[in-house]
Amino acid sequence: MSFLTQEKRTHYCGDLRGTDADKTVVLMGWVHQVRDMGGQIFALLRDRTGMVQLRFDKGTDLFDAGRSLRQEWVVGVKGLVHHRGADVNKQMPTGEVEVVVGALEALNKSETPPFVIRDETDANEDLRLKYRYLDLRRPSVQHKMLERARATSIIRRYFDDQGFIDIETPTLMKSTPEGARDFLVPSRLHHGGFYALPQSPQIYKQICMVAGFDRYYQIARCFRDEDLRADRQLEFTQVDVEMSFVDEDDIMGVIEGVMQQLAKEIANVDVELPIQRLTYAESMNRFGKDAPDMRWGMELYDVGDIFADSDFGVFKGIVDKGGSVRAITVPGGSTKSRKDLDNLQAFVGQYGARGLGWVKVADGNLTGPISRFLQDGLKDRFMATSKATDGDLVLMIAGEFNMACASLAALRSKLGPEVCPENAGNFEFCWVYDFPMFEHDEDEDRWVAVHHPFTQPRPEHVERLDSAPGEALARAYDICLNGVELGGGSIRIHSPELQAKIFTALGISDEEAQAKFGFLLEALKYGAPPHGGIALGLDRVIMMLTGCDSIREVIAFPKTTSGTDLMAGSPTTIDPRQLEELGLKLK
Ligand code: AMO
Repeated sequence: MSFLTQEKRTHYCGDLRGTDADKTVVLMGWVHQVRDMGGQIFALLRDRTGMVQLRFDKGTDLFDAGRSLRQEWVVGVKGLVHHRGADVNKQMPTGEVEVVVGALEALNKSETPPFVIRDETDANEDLRLKYRYLDLRRPSVQHKMLERARATSIIRRYFDDQGFIDIETPTLMKSTPEGARDFLVPSRLHHGGFYALPQSPQIYKQICMVAGFDRYYQIARCFRDEDLRADRQLEFTQVDVEMSFVDEDDIMGVIEGVMQQLAKEIANVDVELPIQRLTYAESMNRFGKDAPDMRWGMELYDVGDIFADSDFGVFKGIVDKGGSVRAITVPGGSTKSRKDLDNLQAFVGQYGARGLGWVKVADGNLTGPISRFLQDGLKDRFMATSKATDGDLVLMIAGEFNMACASLAALRSKLGPEVCPENAGNFEFCWVYDFPMFEHDEDEDRWVAVHHPFTQPRPEHVERLDSAPGEALARAYDICLNGVELGGGSIRIHSPELQAKIFTALGISDEEAQAKFGFLLEALKYGAPPHGGIALGLDRVIMMLTGCDSIREVIAFPKTTSGTDLMAGSPTTIDPRQLEELGLKLK
């Protein structure tokens, strides 16, 4: 008879406390560490709740068995909980007790792991991803998965309680590329036909509103074939929401409620409601990006008009050609060396900046190469605009407005933790709204939707769709936290005529619109209610609430930045027979 058939687990390792002393317990877990102290063998047994010390005493039958245990073996033990008295280990939650082992079975052996299963590991990410099941045994990594599971259960409870209906939408759908590239799935039954994996359930959730479900949510897997970054994966999860008969405030209110609960339960942070709102234009002007990081001061400002009146040819020339000179004041930044400033210049090069202008303030005077162009009245204007005082550094980027904004936003993120370390742990949520409807794609010389083509323009801007598409604002909103876009949504178009007008503005012909989105246009003709919604990026929400730097850390089996699954080894080539069945031939 094996241990498992005779014994059932009575406790998890991490749950044992002093109050369990003198109980006989059965534990199952992994051997974390074995220490041979001569007269006694101590082993740490680990499961998903934590670790507890096992003790094997010399002279007992089990002493040799205890000594033969190796790291990561899986064992079942039965033993007596012993209070450690004065010998308590305060470093461990279970440190008041140890289990004196009376029965042991090694349920499985383990090869020596390629890295130690500890929070502090020096194994690189590739090795950890290759052996992700071992990486996931590390307590801190396991903790993130447990927090993620807790978060999804909070989310489900919240939406269920508020009368939302969880509806599953197809994973094999029609290819309607907008924004990112689709992942395509060839059809075996219809050679030459392809499904696409959803970039989001957008169209289906709108059709759920037409179908009368009124309040929909789904924790939906989405797929986008785009370049990967720390906050992007090829497949990721959205908390997808749609509601009928609502306006922006209703949707924001629902999302604020769930974010408040998540922040409290996952990060123990109190979020004051309502969350502050700012327009897209204000966000760009003050913070240089549409997902502002409000933890640091250092807001952006313009010094173009000052340099337009100066003799500094480089900046003046840029302003004369319609460019901008934007700046931030870095409190205490004048301690930066020439080398530091060169490094910052190289850093902003990634954002397209050709250079980084700087001026330091000392004893009420400006120093640095550009300072000589800022004399007398110009100096006063510069000081008044920059609000710089002794010890401060002003960093300036000249060129196209959006590039200057993006460069300075990146500088704010880089310098913020140095300048305001006391704010680094804050949670600064905000809503950004009044996005433009369209942006101009220079490569293709056409307008593209900033959010997606189903977003309503502000009613008073409908006529701009023909006359000045770039100036039409959308009923779209993003929720952001500390400079990261957590989610975005909009009030949708429910009139087929307006939807057709948007397709025209986007240069999508009637035929193309019919071919791609005919089913939505058709559905809108049959009593589509006014509706709107939003999707939160679940991975990003968990990443931010658990203080991680990358969404890979909160996804059980993530892909690398080059889109590979190092553990399973995908993507792979496929058997020629599979291609044949699908009617495909590789080039
Ligand atoms: P959007 O494209 O803004 O909106 O996506 C919503 C949120 O999903 C997350 N996200 C991602 N997370 C990880 N990896 C990615 N590649 C990735 N792409 C997006 C972000 C983002 O804010 N259908 C609309 C929503 C709506 O209008 O209701 C949509 O998908 O956190």
